[in-house]
Amino acid sequence: MGKESLTVTDNRTGKSYEISIQEGAIRAMDLRQIKVNDDDFGLLSYDPAFMNTASCRSRITYIDGDRGILHYRGYPIEQLAQKSNYLEVAYLLLNGELPTHAQLDDWTQSVKLHTMLHESVKKFVDGFHHDAHTMGMLVGTVGALSTFYPDAKHIHDAESRRMQICRVIAKMPTVAAFAYRHRKGLRYAYPDNELTYCGNFLNMLFKMTEVRYKPDPVLERAIDVLFILHADHEQNCSTSAMRGVGSSQVDPFSAIAASAAALYGPLHGGANEQVLLMLAEIGSSANIPSFIKKVKAGEGRLMGFGHRIYKSYDPRARIIKEIADQVFEVTKRNPLIDVARELERIALEDEYFIKRKLYPNVDFYSGIIYQAMGIPVEMFTVLFAVARTSGWMAQWQEMLLDPEQKIARPRQVYLGHDRRDFVPIEKRG
Ligand code: ACO
Repeated sequence: MGKESLTVTDNRTGKSYEISIQEGAIRAMDLRQIKVNDDDFGLLSYDPAFMNTASCRSRITYIDGDRGILHYRGYPIEQLAQKSNYLEVAYLLLNGELPTHAQLDDWTQSVKLHTMLHESVKKFVDGFHHDAHTMGMLVGTVGALSTFYPDAKHIHDAESRRMQICRVIAKMPTVAAFAYRHRKGLRYAYPDNELTYCGNFLNMLFKMTEVRYKPDPVLERAIDVLFILHADHEQNCSTSAMRGVGSSQVDPFSAIAASAAALYGPLHGGANEQVLLMLAEIGSSANIPSFIKKVKAGEGRLMGFGHRIYKSYDPRARIIKEIADQVFEVTKRNPLIDVARELERIALEDEYFIKRKLYPNVDFYSGIIYQAMGIPVEMFTVLFAVARTSGWMAQWQEMLLDPEQKIARPRQVYLGHDRRDFVPIEKRG
């Protein structure tokens, strides 16, 4: 193999530059030396939507989009979904290694210690309008948690970081469940720490008059697997928000509020909600061809299809599709599954989708499962946010401990006016 470098010739000046290549990347700052004269600022790379720019060096999640591969800390997602549980995966993402028995017990115990919310948080949730979107409530309430934990500002203190990580992972399900129950007009159900992380989440959502809520083991496991699949996905929109906002050294509760807001968008985590609305609109398999025709004509998108990174099947979608049948054995079958499967079959045979490498993504089937469990559509993105919290925290911590990271501050290519003098209002137009 030749030298690990790139020789660039600037045709404006005829000068050549040697730029080193490390781990398949050049450093954008190395372009700055390329100038037409001493007054020149130097060459920038222009990359709207960061299509080909690495903003960090990470050891957390690996994706090979062409081959449909996803690993957390080197472990294939299929193995983790089959053999692990959400809190163990969270530990892995945060610490880099699978825990021993003692470490897992300790970590699980620490999370359980923090599942309660300050009673004033309840009043905060109460303040939202009765039909407020649960994602809006989650974004607002998790941001408000920073006011309850002023010590979260000590982001350079390892012990404080560990505490906030525990707190946020423990409290996100409680905030999410309170938001759900507020919208339903139900009394809040407090955490039951005898249950597992996911069992307790189901308890806080669905407990009615029974003294003790007993989660169905199939549904509890389904939520656990869905949470594992959603736990991290490297530098996506919400994780970039976490890193970008966190780089200002704000406390992690405020940064998580920003990440959750990014996740809310319909092109990101909000897509699971859009998929269900779309499937309901299609209604039956007979209407699929006309719907596909509209999508191909540019009148809307096939929600839950396509991905910036995956250009073959999203491995998470494959696992989720398998869980659906297990869940339907316990719940009533969701008839929308037939519409979804037929939609997928037709789309995957269609030239438009084949050419653009559009396959179902993680959001295509998750909502159908959640809906069958009795979870309303507006909670889908909230569940995604609860699960992604461990990934956001792992990425936040990695960013803080990376000596190369500074406050995130992209450049721009300015295309506006040159300097001009202010025109008094009577002389304008
Ligand atoms: N339905 C129909 N056409 C699509 C879709 C879709 N879902 N996704 C992409 N395309 C088409 C585009 O129109 C474009 O076609 P063109 O080349 O003829 O203009 C081409 O495929 C490339 O699309 P881009 O928008 O450039 O792809 P990008 O990588 O920017 O977008 C995204 C990825 C946002 C996920 C997109 O595929 C999409 O909007 N999907 C639907 C929303 C969705 O499911 N989001 C969830 C993603 S997973 C997650 O965030 C958890």
